[in-house]
Amino acid sequence: MTEQQKANGHVQTVSVDDEPTTGVEGSQDVTAELCALAPIGLLAELTHRCPLQCGYCSNPIELERVANELTTEEWCSVMRQAGEMGVLQIHLSGGEPCVRKDLEEIVSAASEAGLYTNLITAAVTLKRERLEGLVKRGLDHVQISFQDVDPENAEHIGGYPGATQKKLDVAGWVTEMGVPLTVNAPIHRKNIKSVPAYVDLAIKLGAQRLEIAHAQYYGWAFLNRAALIPTYEDTLASIEFVEEARERLKGVLTIDMVVPDYYAKRPKPCMGGWAKGFMNVTPAGKVLPCHAAESIPELEFDNVRTRKLRDIWLDGSAFNAFRGTSWMKEPCRSCAFKDIDYGGCRCQAMAMTGDPRNTDPACALSPYHAEMVNFAKEEASKPPTEFLYRNPRNAAKALKAKEETLLPAE
Ligand code: SF4
Ligand code: FES
Repeated sequence: MTEQQKANGHVQTVSVDDEPTTGVEGSQDVTAELCALAPIGLLAELTHRCPLQCGYCSNPIELERVANELTTEEWCSVMRQAGEMGVLQIHLSGGEPCVRKDLEEIVSAASEAGLYTNLITAAVTLKRERLEGLVKRGLDHVQISFQDVDPENAEHIGGYPGATQKKLDVAGWVTEMGVPLTVNAPIHRKNIKSVPAYVDLAIKLGAQRLEIAHAQYYGWAFLNRAALIPTYEDTLASIEFVEEARERLKGVLTIDMVVPDYYAKRPKPCMGGWAKGFMNVTPAGKVLPCHAAESIPELEFDNVRTRKLRDIWLDGSAFNAFRGTSWMKEPCRSCAFKDIDYGGCRCQAMAMTGDPRNTDPACALSPYHAEMVNFAKEEASKPPTEFLYRNPRNAAKALKAKEETLLPAE
């Protein structure tokens, strides 16, 4: 993990040890002064369109329509404003950012604004000439997700035949062009045994960094929790393997890891702290303090179409809702860790307890913690089930089912 990646809290490492632990690496080196001025990282979700259909996706169930997406000029303005306010890194994501035909213009605008530009892609639609063009325009880094190392399983998880060879081709071009590569390994029940093979793959591809990212249960992943949660034993085995591999591969490969909150004793400082170092712009221009913040119904979000990015960062009501620690309830309010983990994740507290001000149930001090761990252990002990693929048809079904559960009984 680079210092910047550590600093923006985009990737965290959380221990599941039984002993009390500091638990988290990486978010404490953000200076308060810098945070007061600008977020370090901005996630630009250029679109929700995606050729893959992974059930672990953290996008919202209600996928944004193409007609509502920001225009080229609107995205370029976001890049310029981000550069002016002192953002350092831009993560171009989605959905699949490469489905935007104007990705070139957006990369140019980001690069001209002085932003370190990272493309987070599934890579299945990317052609060599296009990648060369993006690199010429200033693309600094590419992150490619592999749904598994085994091609058959990978293609089943992503719902996209032939994906693996395309990804391997693109990864090869990235390193040939001298661009730093991160292999992203989204880990869950259906591929957790492949963690050692992911390490071999990252080395073979010449990646600088491997991100072993256990699924975080937001959006589609929350809907598919039962199918995705691995057993406690497999989770621990994967963590032990990564810790050993990190030591062995020092100087060769950096391995970051995000473990499932459901087996943690202490929560991650989600986003490095709410509105502390990170902001997210949705395909339609809503500005969020984290990618899942729309799951908190009481929040209202500003839009880059009507308000400057800097104003939103400094004064937006959603950003100020959980900034700092004054909003906290007990046990966080009087806890020694409150300035370290910020009470964990607001969206997870909302999803599991119905109140975003509650302590994240990933914390052993939360009254909901046992319920969360028991849910995970119980689901993981059942025979594996299939998840619901992330696609517009299933989104419509899931939203209809949700509406029906909200209707008053006849
Ligand atoms: Fe963190 Fe709150 Fe748990 Fe304390 S009680 S460790 S601040 S989540
Ligand atoms: Fe929203 Fe953690 S995902 S605060």
